[in-house]
Amino acid sequence: MNTMKKPRKIRLVVVLGLLLCVSCYYDQEVEEVIPDIPIDEPISYQDDIQPLFVLEGRDCTTCHNGTIANPDLTEGNSYDAIIGSLVPGDAENSAFFQGLPGNDHPVEAGFSLTVEEIALIKGWIDRGAENN
Ligand code: HEC
Repeated sequence: MNTMKKPRKIRLVVVLGLLLCVSCYYDQEVEEVIPDIPIDEPISYQDDIQPLFVLEGRDCTTCHNGTIANPDLTEGNSYDAIIGSLVPGDAENSAFFQGLPGNDHPVEAGFSLTVEEIALIKGWIDRGAENN
């Protein structure tokens, strides 16, 4: 019957619309995949990790400087301050890694580390978190 056609089409549009909404919602929830640093690319704490804590315009040490917030991320102090909240070889289970801005930092830092920067920190921890 002709009169049945219209409601069915509307129902189809509504269902498709709902599916679209749901998929958009899940897209936002999906976290970016953290890439692995190629194994032939060395990661040095002094040269690659420490500089990430004092980037221009995204300087962690405005807060993490030994007085305002822990851990102290200033050069010369940061390694000793973070090693206790790391599981060397296992970034995913390290409180320090979980708490990074861009992951689940406990307060609004005002900026984030990029996925590439987080990947470096993850690689460094996964490779044993050496003071190298
Ligand atoms: C606006 C201030 C501020 C900035 C900027 C900031 N933090 Fe924090 N961060 C805090 C506060 C406050 C805490 C809570 C711990 C405390 O109060 O000692 C914290 C906690 C953390 C923790 C501990 C998470 C945990 O649960 O163990 C990590 C790791 C951390 N920050 C990393 C960083 C890094 C890396 C940066 C820079 C990329 C940064 N933070 C920038 C204020 C800041």
